[in-house]
Amino acid sequence: MTSRNVTVVGLQWGDEGKGKIVDALTEVCDYVARYCGGANAGHSVVIGDQKFALHLIPCGVFHKGIVNVIGNGVAFDPAVAVKEISQLRERGIEVGPGNLAISAAANVVMPYHKLQDSLSEERLGDGKIGTTARGIGPCYCDKANRSTAIRVAELIDEAVLVPKLRAIAAAKNELFASVYKAKPMDIAAMVHEYVALGRLIKPMVTNTGAMLRKAVAAGKRVLFEGGQGSLLDVDHGTFPFVTSSSVSACGVSAGAGVPPSAVGQVLGLVKAYTTRVGSGPFPTEQDNAIGQAIRERGHEYGTTTGRPRRCGWFDAFAVRYTGDLSGVDEMALALLDVLSGLDEINICVGYKQGGRMVEDFDAACMDGMTPVYETLPGWSEDITACRTFGELPAAAQAYVARVEQLVGRPVGFISVGPERTQTIRHHTKIEGLR
Ligand code: GDP
Ligand code: IMO
Ligand code: MG
Repeated sequence: MTSRNVTVVGLQWGDEGKGKIVDALTEVCDYVARYCGGANAGHSVVIGDQKFALHLIPCGVFHKGIVNVIGNGVAFDPAVAVKEISQLRERGIEVGPGNLAISAAANVVMPYHKLQDSLSEERLGDGKIGTTARGIGPCYCDKANRSTAIRVAELIDEAVLVPKLRAIAAAKNELFASVYKAKPMDIAAMVHEYVALGRLIKPMVTNTGAMLRKAVAAGKRVLFEGGQGSLLDVDHGTFPFVTSSSVSACGVSAGAGVPPSAVGQVLGLVKAYTTRVGSGPFPTEQDNAIGQAIRERGHEYGTTTGRPRRCGWFDAFAVRYTGDLSGVDEMALALLDVLSGLDEINICVGYKQGGRMVEDFDAACMDGMTPVYETLPGWSEDITACRTFGELPAAAQAYVARVEQLVGRPVGFISVGPERTQTIRHHTKIEGLR
């Protein structure tokens, strides 16, 4: 049986507008589950004049009746989660045991992970990855190392947590003092704080894998909410300038505890141009007036760290690769409105290396790649009020059609503004939309 689930993945370097589309699609889903990353994500949802930025809590919380799941593959930061829940409650959004389930098997981000993330980046100097400093890499390191990891099940069990955390934190203090000459962390205060955080989240902790498998078996519909973007995938991205989890659709099964058949329809999110935060290759980057114009019009400053995002042209060669990797069924093309007002728009159709066209995109070999562009006419009209494809200017329609051709996948949705309603349904085959 073909699954009716939907998986939303970013096909570039993150911030493609996943939050907005996940929120829009929750009307046809019963569960929204995060499977990768952690509080490095920043997903924006705009409802009327209210803007929300979610880091750990899935974007299904704005619809009643949705169960939001933080899967086992997430690097779970209890301090961020508790703060985010209380901020949402203050704004009238109910989040609690009735609509949030946290995996007992997720790995916990501890203060020493965040400290190590910063110390390590500082030491790398110009060679730094440009992480979000949310402790993501060090947390997944401990997960792979096993003996130094703390899982959510242990966080909520004081008798297990206290001795284990004391021992691990003492070892981290020794390590940081010798490698980074860092001051020791106050272990007693950390233990006290994390015991309290464990108590607060305990009512929401459960076996989310079993929950999701039962839901799928019962014909419920799950939306898997990807974090980051496929070019940041630890295995398939522009290594080492990547994040530390499997963020493409390939990571859904392991990160949520469901069989690969549960992935369902894959919706690949792209911006109508490209952005990247942090270091690493970006062949179509426009470190010039064009990039600056895109940054200002698109408000391209990080949702999590506030850093200015690097901006450039749409890279169809890269997106064809990430679309193939995740088996994307259709794309959502976001921020098309930001391109209004440009005389001409470039799309990268391939790379040249040493004067020759490159056959296969290889995220691990990006040195010396020169993008080959095709130039399309721009449009001057403001398109933020368009609600059908036919209302878009002819040049914008032609741009969308060319993106589809070059990537080799249909565009299901076109987003023309941050607000929920600023969405055009185009070739989507996702069932049940009102
Ligand atoms: P995510 O991480 O993929 O969820 O994306 P972010 O929320 O980090 O960044 C996307 C930004 O673009 C947010 O500020 C959104 O509110 C905004 N946004 C989303 N879609 C559109 C759109 O179609 N047009 C414009 N102008 N802004 C959009
Ligand atoms: P969303 O879900 C954009 C980037 C960081 C850095 C690299 C590694 O909002 O699209 P990390 O802190 O994960 O170790 O940083 O990955 N990065 C993101 N860039 N959007 C994100 O998430 C990102 N999450 C991580 O900027 O380059
Ligand atoms: Mg983001």
